[in-house]
Amino acid sequence: MEAIPPPPPRILIVDDDESVRDVISVLLREEGYDCVTASGAEAALDVAKSDDTPLVISDMKMPGKDGLWLLEAFRDQHPDTSVIMLTGYGDTESAVDCLRRGAVDYLLKPPKLTDLIRSIERALAKRRVELAKKRYQKKLERKVRDRTTELRNALKDVSTTYQNTLLALVSALDAREHETSDHSQRVVEYTVAIATRMTIKGQELDEIGRGALLHDIGKIGVPDAVLLKPGKLTPDEWIEMRKHPDIGFNMIAPIPFLSTPAQIVLSHQERFDGEGYPRKMRREDIHIGARIFAVADTLDAMTSDRPYRKGTSFANAIAEISRCTGTQFDPEVVKAFLDIGEAGLVRIKENMVARKKAAEQAKAQAPGGQGPSVDSR
Ligand SMILES: [Fe+2]
Repeated sequence: MEAIPPPPPRILIVDDDESVRDVISVLLREEGYDCVTASGAEAALDVAKSDDTPLVISDMKMPGKDGLWLLEAFRDQHPDTSVIMLTGYGDTESAVDCLRRGAVDYLLKPPKLTDLIRSIERALAKRRVELAKKRYQKKLERKVRDRTTELRNALKDVSTTYQNTLLALVSALDAREHETSDHSQRVVEYTVAIATRMTIKGQELDEIGRGALLHDIGKIGVPDAVLLKPGKLTPDEWIEMRKHPDIGFNMIAPIPFLSTPAQIVLSHQERFDGEGYPRKMRREDIHIGARIFAVADTLDAMTSDRPYRKGTSFANAIAEISRCTGTQFDPEVVKAFLDIGEAGLVRIKENMVARKKAAEQAKAQAPGGQGPSVDSR
């Protein structure tokens, strides 16, 4: 099958002198170009509106809007159209002006056919290269945009996977020590609420939440006989137990995205007055995340049921935390905590319970999910 040759390039000839328009279009048609004409700058714009016009040859001096006006109008409205200007003899100044304003060439009137053809060919070739460059640039930008989106999605997936891995790890740990496996996640909720009250946000808030989630990760290294002992611990057993902040810190500090949470893990048992462990750190030497966590952890410990005792009311826990402000707890943190108020704190816990219930129901109803079990051990 024979390839269909591309249509001849369309050239718009603009001149107020009809005889000039006719001569140029006849000559160019004989050379194989498709020519249209306009008698003035505004008429030329109308012609260009309806059809693709790769090239305009325009007279400089015309009644009404002149060639320079046309040049700028095309630059604004049809930036892909090339313009060759025809100038009168001795009008070098306007010729230079034309080039400065974006004309691809200028020719003296009346132009010689050979000069005109050479100028047209040069202008069309230059235009082809520029259009190809533009297409390539656009393609490149689209590619960069697509890759950026892919990368962003991949990072989001990685971050979700990290978070889920940490949650699974902490749930396993909670299940070992507590009757239920929600202690760490509740503490995260309280910690984040207090931190938010203290206007902490963004990455700092995320890191504090992660530190609260992982606070007891070091208990992995505490033997069952000590961790799960129902009675009081002996002095030696306390020594074992008090190693857990260091064990946790050493576990996660080498992981780059957990280096700040590791600081919270290390200092989560410190007290504001320096009577905590393992470093007996004081006041602002203790990471702010750990100072916030201390309040959140006490609240959850006091208000949660244990096998050997019922949890106390939120009001009692709040009163006890207030009493320990400045000794066990940072007054700034306690202030933010009290600002949330009893109702706010109760709501955080209730929302969490509701969310968990909804998630469990969704899991049970999902295809392949487990329905209600007869034996619930
Ligand atoms: Fe702890």
